[in-house]
Amino acid sequence: MIEILTDLAALRARVSQWRREGLTVAFVPTMGNLHDGHFSLVRLARSHADRVVASVFVNPTQFGPNEDFGQYPRTPDADARGLEAAGCDAMWLPSVETMYPYGVDATVRVQVPGVTTTLEGAHRPGHFDGVATVVSRLFLQVQPDVAVFGRKDYQQLAVIRYMVRDMAFPIEIVGADIVREANGLAMSSRNQYLSADERAHAARIRQCLLAMAAAVRSGQPRAEVEQQAAERLAADSFAPDYAVVRRPDLTEPGDGERGPRVALIAARLGRTRLIDNFEFDA
Ligand code: PAJ
Repeated sequence: MIEILTDLAALRARVSQWRREGLTVAFVPTMGNLHDGHFSLVRLARSHADRVVASVFVNPTQFGPNEDFGQYPRTPDADARGLEAAGCDAMWLPSVETMYPYGVDATVRVQVPGVTTTLEGAHRPGHFDGVATVVSRLFLQVQPDVAVFGRKDYQQLAVIRYMVRDMAFPIEIVGADIVREANGLAMSSRNQYLSADERAHAARIRQCLLAMAAAVRSGQPRAEVEQQAAERLAADSFAPDYAVVRRPDLTEPGDGERGPRVALIAARLGRTRLIDNFEFDA
């Protein structure tokens, strides 16, 4: 049976007990409304440690004022069942008051420089401050040996890696592959906002990423590839925030430069904002 913990003292007691027994602990932070993408993280976590804790917390500090915090789907009962089936030992389900005892506006914040200023950071001001703030709190609450994050949120993973290195959190960060629907659409809790037609159409984001990678590999200049991708998305009834090719640290590669690359897209389809990426070698 999965144990559902809502109290910080109870969480700490459980993890301490595991530690006394010599067991290692892996951690999977989530905002709930869990799907197979999240469950794959839990299974990967299982393979890295003796016990797995997953958190479910819709974090108010990472949503902008005009974003979907209020509307974000909350399904804790189904989440608990899914986590149990995926082999999770404990679900950490804190309230906003437990997470932010002095209130959301009076909280100590963690700000990561550099990698947070572009792409998602540029389009969602303050978003990564909220992510770094809550993930550092979650790390101090759970105190895991290992934490697993999806490569779906590619820039988030880069932010977390930077924070963990800079603040010397004694936690190994593991990146998990993107889990997709049969049509190629990256699984996301926000896919629920899509109509059936939109869901089918949204698979074109992945096709656009693959086309960007192929164009870069064939030697087409990066600026041209990015512009054509944005135009293609716009012509395809998306409203793109960006369609870019970057080095793994999200800096801009020069033309003709070889090495590992990631193509990243953020685009709105109707009222739903979707992100996806594709890693390749140029
Ligand atoms: P959430 O969007 O719920 O995602 C939780 C974790 O699941 C993240 O590491 C995300 O990258 C991963 N994930 C989501 N969809 C995935 C997919 N299709 N394939 C693989 N992994 C996937 O990311 C957050 O929550 C929050 O920002 C959080 C880190 C919990 C901080 O609040």
